[in-house]
Amino acid sequence: MADDTPLLVDRDGLVTTITFNRPAVLNAINKPTLEALGQALADAQADDSVRVLILTGSGAKAFVAGADINELAIQTPVGAREHALAGQRVFDLVEQLGKPVIAAINGYALGGGCELAMACTIRLAADTARIGLPEVTLGILPGYGGTQRLARLVGKGKAMELILTGSPLVAEEALRIGLVNRVVPAAGLMDEARALAALIASRPPLAVRYILSAIHEGIDMPFADACRFEATLFGLVAATEDMREGTRAFLEKRPPQFRGR
Ligand code: COA
Repeated sequence: MADDTPLLVDRDGLVTTITFNRPAVLNAINKPTLEALGQALADAQADDSVRVLILTGSGAKAFVAGADINELAIQTPVGAREHALAGQRVFDLVEQLGKPVIAAINGYALGGGCELAMACTIRLAADTARIGLPEVTLGILPGYGGTQRLARLVGKGKAMELILTGSPLVAEEALRIGLVNRVVPAAGLMDEARALAALIASRPPLAVRYILSAIHEGIDMPFADACRFEATLFGLVAATEDMREGTRAFLEKRPPQFRGR
């Protein structure tokens, strides 16, 4: 039943929630799901009235339990490479959308599910979540950017350990090593994600976009170049009406009315 709509897209004001909807296979990502995700992201990117996205999984058990192993089991070398590149393109889009994407990790985030969460801007985990990259136990390795994003998030040593053992972490341990931003009781996860999304959606969207860009693009640059890039974005944001409004509102001791211009 769920496979008719492997992805649910819901809009609530400035926030779009994308829900992986294959609970019978713990929301594993197959090719149609990946394509639907790419399309939903492109739609959200093109729509200026969408300010923040939330990604989550349907059911109480899983965020996303990985790429669909039924597809992996029959892959050819050329097909596997194409598959990895296709997944990387979609996950890169999550990271480079120009809008914050919050992962609300409501259960298993394994393999591609962990890689997807790592491509998100901020990760909130239910206290019941289990997070990791178990690919090695299947005789493969992470192929959606996991070897690179995990090492950048938690450091090379921990990434080596997690990817070589394939053992998932409980939520509190993921928090301790910086793999997730917060752990919350499972029942309150979506409220927490919506509250965070609403707070960021209330911020001026051009400043938000440049902050994402400064951190995401800057982090792979030499430090001095990244700081010059930051200064350029700082200059660019000074051209916005929202900058004038934000600074004026502070001086006039009133709440700002940002318009996204
Ligand atoms: N791809 C395809 N099917 C998957 C899947 C995946 N990544 N993860 C789970 N499923 C399916 C199971 O085969 C099972 O199907 P069935 O009911 O037809 O037997 C169903 O989802 C429920 O999973 P099950 O294993 O019975 O649940 P569990 O609670 O015993 O274990 C996990 C949960 C997450 C520990 C276990 O499903 C698992 O290890 N999944 C694979 C995780 C993985 O290696 N991901 C990386 C892929 S690259």
